Amino acid sequence: MSVERILITGATGGIGGALAMEYAKPGRTLILQGRREDRLDELAAQCTACGAEVLTRALDVRDHQALVAWLQDVCEPEVPDLVIANAGVNINIGPDGAGETWEEVEALLDINLRSTIALVHAVLPGMRERGRGQIALMSSLAAYFGLPVTPSYCASKSALKSYGEALRGWLAPEGVKVNVIMPGYVESLMCREMPGPKPFLLTPERAAYIIRRGLRKNKPRISFPFPLNLGTWLLSILHPALAQRILSWMNYRA
Ligand SMILES: NC(=O)c1ccc[n+]([C@@H]2O[C@H](COP(=O)([O-])OP(=O)(O)OC[C@H]3O[C@@H](n4cnc5c(N)ncnc54)[C@H](OP(=O)(O)O)[C@@H]3O)[C@@H](O)[C@H]2O)c1
Repeated sequence: MSVERILITGATGGIGGALAMEYAKPGRTLILQGRREDRLDELAAQCTACGAEVLTRALDVRDHQALVAWLQDVCEPEVPDLVIANAGVNINIGPDGAGETWEEVEALLDINLRSTIALVHAVLPGMRERGRGQIALMSSLAAYFGLPVTPSYCASKSALKSYGEALRGWLAPEGVKVNVIMPGYVESLMCREMPGPKPFLLTPERAAYIIRRGLRKNKPRISFPFPLNLGTWLLSILHPALAQRILSWMNYRA
């Protein structure tokens, strides 16, 4: 399948921006979303310089009406070939373990989960009708086993992992591909603000390269880097008491 029309949410961030650059080339149309208009303009200029056609939209995905209206506009001429649902936020329990506030939790679930599912609902009918398309959901290695410092974030990324796996099984016979992306630590504002050790930290450019390659091969799960993928996957199959103890030894504790 030739991927010519690509939509990326959260393009103003570390991974989203690197993905936009990774896909920018002549013949491609990039549809880029974020909240920061100045960053969108800067990125659009960089992608245009690489030969891509670029459409941008500054939008808060918590505004569901605006999100759905925008996606209808995007799909009206032609449904994107590839949609990467990447926008997301992280919160944590704080340096002294006080906990997450309900306002933070509500916003996180709205952005990471509800808006992502709304995005899928908006683009899926067109892809199913056409009998092809690809949807990539940005989960995280944090989906394998809940980290004590980021409970709601881990919950949202586990939910996206399950959602993507289910969609893939449902939609494969119709020609619509669904992939779950599970990065480890990638340099970005979100990553810098996250507490705890960050082993095997990758640059956004390296992450974007791995993601593009995984999507081209239609891998069900694009999880990386290998050592952290193995370690976090093992946590999910060990007895939870032992997994908690390992996390505590590794300083991932409140
Ligand atoms: N970095 C990591 O270590 C890591 C690891 C695993 C998974 N991930 C996932 O990768 C994705 C990208 O994260 P990142 O590391 O690139 O973080 P980032 O640099 O902080 O980027 C986050 C992106 O999401 C957008 N966004 C946040 N809230 C939004 C809202 N309400 N409406 C619209 N857009 C919103 C931001 O837009 P503005 O900047 O314009 O506000 C930005 O483009 C996230 O889903 C994250 O959970 C990251």
